[in-house]
Amino acid sequence: HLSALADFPIGVAVPAGDADNSLLNSTERQTIVETHFNQLSAENIMKAQYMRPAQGEFDFEDADALIAYANNNGMSVHGHVLVWHNQMPQWMQDFDGDASGWQQMLEDHIAGVAGHFVGQLESWDVVNEAFLDDGSYRNFQSGNEAESLWYQKMGKDYIKHAFVAARNADADADLYYNDYNLNWSDSKLSAVTTMAQELLDDGVDITGIGFQMHVDVGVKKAKLKEQFQEVVDLGLKVKITEVDIRMNGNNSEDNASAPLLLNQKALYRDIVEAYMETVPPALRGGITVWGIADMDSWIIYLYGNDDWPLLFDSEFNAKPALQGFADGL
Ligand code: XIL
Repeated sequence: HLSALADFPIGVAVPAGDADNSLLNSTERQTIVETHFNQLSAENIMKAQYMRPAQGEFDFEDADALIAYANNNGMSVHGHVLVWHNQMPQWMQDFDGDASGWQQMLEDHIAGVAGHFVGQLESWDVVNEAFLDDGSYRNFQSGNEAESLWYQKMGKDYIKHAFVAARNADADADLYYNDYNLNWSDSKLSAVTTMAQELLDDGVDITGIGFQMHVDVGVKKAKLKEQFQEVVDLGLKVKITEVDIRMNGNNSEDNASAPLLLNQKALYRDIVEAYMETVPPALRGGITVWGIADMDSWIIYLYGNDDWPLLFDSEFNAKPALQGFADGL
């Protein structure tokens, strides 16, 4: 009972909707989720690609079903995600408008989505992945799909507009800026804390910073503590939003072996300990693992080879990593 060991949310990202491995159709997954977690993130179904079939249209059916499941089981829900350059529906990518047209479209999106879920979500990832690892804004210079249309159309102010719109739509939810590699790139973390400070100086409400934490076996506890501390020093909450620890950088089947699973256990413990030792209780937004069991992990698709990044194996058995996480709490 992992979540019983913490007085802040212990979350897990779950497949839902019509995914083959949807939580709502899987008793094995439900057993794990109900035993160990008290917060859910939708791995995909609350992204614009899924909730916005067309301009002016909203499809909340899958998300409503997931939230109903969470409520029935005493779990809160973290909203993921309002504004992201990825998984945008085609109509949104093709939206024809100048900067103010795009701003209106962004505000309508947030008002419609965040407005629908008022009172049902603990928190939102308002903006996801606005920076590159070198600390520059993710732009759109080459038409590469990894780059941001939001920035291309509106400049950096889209971030501010998004936070203002989210707060207008939902007076109570915690509002996060979320990104990856904040544990790895000092330039990126510093760009994010500078952006957050600017929002605060402008009187814009931002509650915290989400560290995705898709990490490998190189993650270092001492460094991580310094990184969390930078956010704590701003008075903002820290939420670990998407942790997984990939082990198969050199694509070897040996990497699922006992010594490596023990290394992974120690690293989960280190990450949780870094959090507990640095983030004071009032600023703990929680810790969420990005997936239930190894065979469901997005890491396998991202890197194109097998991997074992999560707390449960592909037979739904607890791995040493689960104990490592618990030891850190
Ligand atoms: C990933 C999902 O896990 C995959 O199923 C999907 O195909 C792509 O997106 N950062 C994020 C998440 O903020 O939304 C991403 O989730 C993983 C990286």
